[in-house]
Order: sequence, then structure tokens, then C-alpha cells
Amino acid sequence: MTFSSEADKYQYVNQMFARIAHRYDLMNRIMTAGQDQYWRKLLIEAAQLPPNGRLLDVATGTGDIAFEAFRQNHQLSHVIGADYTLPMMHVGQNRWPDYVSKTLAPNGQAIKNRLSWSGADALHLPFPDNSFDAVASGFLMRNVTNVRHALAEQVRVCKSGGRVLILEIPRPADTLFGNLFRLYFHNVVPLVGGIISGQQDAYSYLPASADAFLSPAELKAEMEAVSLREVNYRLLMFNTVALHVGVK
Ligand SMILES: C[S@@+](CC[C@H](N)C(=O)[O-])C[C@H]1O[C@@H](n2cnc3c(N)ncnc32)[C@H](O)[C@@H]1O
Repeated sequence: MTFSSEADKYQYVNQMFARIAHRYDLMNRIMTAGQDQYWRKLLIEAAQLPPNGRLLDVATGTGDIAFEAFRQNHQLSHVIGADYTLPMMHVGQNRWPDYVSKTLAPNGQAIKNRLSWSGADALHLPFPDNSFDAVASGFLMRNVTNVRHALAEQVRVCKSGGRVLILEIPRPADTLFGNLFRLYFHNVVPLVGGIISGQQDAYSYLPASADAFLSPAELKAEMEAVSLREVNYRLLMFNTVALHVGVK
């Protein structure tokens, strides 16, 4: 899938997520055989948030990373989920009260108002410098029009000594398994996604965006280029998903 301009991609991604919002969570669980929540758990563990910490979840979508942060740490003072696709966040807002009462009990009521939602562009985050103890994103970076710029924004709003975490599907490697994964990704996922969401093009964009994205080593180099230190990554799900962590 090619775009005629950055503005074209920006708008396509925004409208596409609005169209699939109502089926996004279900498709994630199916495509990853339920592993996606485990990856978010690892991301929050790697964030090493202090008890009263503040987390920014950039491109929060339906809020899974933000929810997981509170599941692991009832003491967090504030989590902001930011995204430019409001229908994705509406799904999350509707799920939040149930999550609070079922998963965060007995502290749910105390936590409930410590999650905020913000309509925001990842390339122009509406937060002051040095605001968060950690800045996380899940499955955002393939979608932005300028990776370096998005990273620089995440670093800007992160406190010194805080962590920037990126969970993403890297470009599949040119190995036997990488090619098998490509086959699955390009053939099975659009078919199933089309049936479940009625939006086959969205699930054709997904593998195409991974093909056009960076390798794990290239993303690490980009993180170092915006001055993150101790950048490391681990590969998950047979190297098809990467979790990168860097320190500001
Ligand atoms: C694949 S979803 C990931 C949602 C969530 N982080 C998760 O783990 O499931 C990608 C999200 O990135 C958001 N997104 C893409 N480009 C963005 C941008 N420039 N600014 C803000 N959000 C963006 C989309 O609206 C979408 O909700």
C-alpha cells in the first residue's frame, strides 16, 4: 500500500482506525492467539514506574496499555492515554468502568479518575517537557509519518531518567520463519480481519505497514539518534514483535 503524501497516510490511518474501532480488541486477540495482552504486561513491567508515577500511553487506542499499568500498580498517580482517533478511545472509555470494578477491585473507585484520555497527535504531544516517568506506545510507530519526530516528542515529555518504551511489529526478517510469517500476515490476517470487521483493507494495510517499517536494530538506532541511552530490545512471538526500551 503506498500513499501519495504524508498527509494522505496520516488521514488514511486515522479514518481506518475509526472504522475498525468496534472490532479492534477482538481482532487483536484472534490474530495474536491472545498473546497481545502478555506483551503489554511485559511493556509495563519494563517501564519500572515508581509507586506514584505518571505514565503517558501514546496512541492508547482502546486503552489496553493504560489499563495494564493500573493493573500492575494501583499506586500510580496518573495515566494519560492519548490518541488522534476518538472512536478508538470511546471504545476504551466504555470498557473502563467494567475494568475498574472487575480487575482493579478493591481499589477501583480510588483509581477510576486517575486515567485521562486526550485527543492528541503523536507528532505534537500537548504536554510540557519532562512530564512523565515513562512514555509508552503500542503498535504506533509503523503508523506515523515521521518516526524520528515521534520519538523526539516522546523523549521531550519524558522526565530525565525515565523510560521510553515501544512495542511494535518490526519488518519481518528475510529468514524462513520471517517469510512464513509474511505469508500468514498477508493472506490470513486480511481474510479474517475482513470477516470480523468488514474492513479488509485495514487488515491489508497492517502487513504492508510492517513490511515498510524498520528492523529492530534500525529502530534501536533511531532511539539512540534522539539521545536515548541504554537502548535495548527483546523479540517476542518468534521474532514477530519487538519491545524496545530506552532511558532518557
Ligand atoms: C494499532 S493501534 C494501537 C492501540 C494501542 N496502543 C494498543 O496497544 O492496542 C494504533 C493507534 O495509533 C493511533 N495513531 C496512529 N497515528 C497516530 C498519530 N499520529 N497520533 C496519535 N495517534 C495515532 C491510532 O489512532 C490507533 O489508535
